[in-house]
Amino acid sequence: ARMEGLLLFLALLGSALLLGLAAVSFSLVWTCYYREGLGWDGGAPEFNWHPVLMVTGFIFVQGLAIIVYRLPWTWKCNKLLMKLIHAGLNSIAFTLAVISLVAVFDFHNAKKIPNMYSLHSWIGLTAVILYGLQIFVGIAVFLFPFAPASLRAAIMPIHVYSGLFLFGTVIATALMGITEKLIFSLRIPEPRYSDFPDEALVVNTLGVILVVFGVLVLWVVTRAHWKRPAENTSKLQQNVGRLDYNEEGLVMADESAVEANGEAVARKRNPILDEAGQRSTM
Ligand code: HEM
Repeated sequence: ARMEGLLLFLALLGSALLLGLAAVSFSLVWTCYYREGLGWDGGAPEFNWHPVLMVTGFIFVQGLAIIVYRLPWTWKCNKLLMKLIHAGLNSIAFTLAVISLVAVFDFHNAKKIPNMYSLHSWIGLTAVILYGLQIFVGIAVFLFPFAPASLRAAIMPIHVYSGLFLFGTVIATALMGITEKLIFSLRIPEPRYSDFPDEALVVNTLGVILVVFGVLVLWVVTRAHWKRPAENTSKLQQNVGRLDYNEEGLVMADESAVEANGEAVARKRNPILDEAGQRSTM
């Protein structure tokens, strides 16, 4: 059962990676083959960075950041290193999202098109701002050594919930943007969107790929049995029989667990968390 679980995990992870790379490729085929290519000139090629960087950075790289604690071969790695990778990938995603926004605002200003008039832009800008806040709070609470374990445990479920909610929102925002752009650009000259030209087929498919990518990432990340085993690193927790917090929540400290490692033992030493099923990662 353990082996099958691992194979299923690897199959879902592999599919997610392939879909993510496919999404990046489709965004490049769209902008470079069907549209005007990429450039920084105030014109259409500058706008085109917007979908390419949002798909690559804000969706694909963010998906990787979300999944990174689930990779079983990293469970032996130092937790701090994994946090740095998680924070680093999210920071790359954020940076690419901001550059992508600069491209579209700059394009609008150069073409005298109004800013922030669409639902897509309202939800999208809100998502970028909240994502920046999420990274700031995450680094302040989980990476810097100042926050007490009880605060970390209190913030963790919020961090997980808002992170996953934002990821879903970003994919929904991309679907709105894709639809808008197809309607805007497949108009004059013909064919129109409703004529269902090849470009529409390709770009609608990009939208479907983004949704399935999101489905896979969210599935893998919410399976309790694929979570990184909790560690009892806190010195306080090594006191026998004491109730204590680690970043994953309330745990019962247990002497036998202190020197032990490996997933099975981790499960045994944290029965409360396993039942909750939503023990978070960090
Ligand atoms: C504009 C955010 C993805 C197409 C905008 C604007 C924002 C934004 C804030 C307003 C810019 C301004 O008013 O000057 C996002 C976010 C995305 C995303 C957070 C994350 C996935 C996409 C994608 C496309 C797209 C994949 C596909 C082409 C557009 C278009 C505009 C635009 C056509 C100009 C019209 C409008 O303001 O609605 N986007 N976008 N967006 N975006 Fe996106």
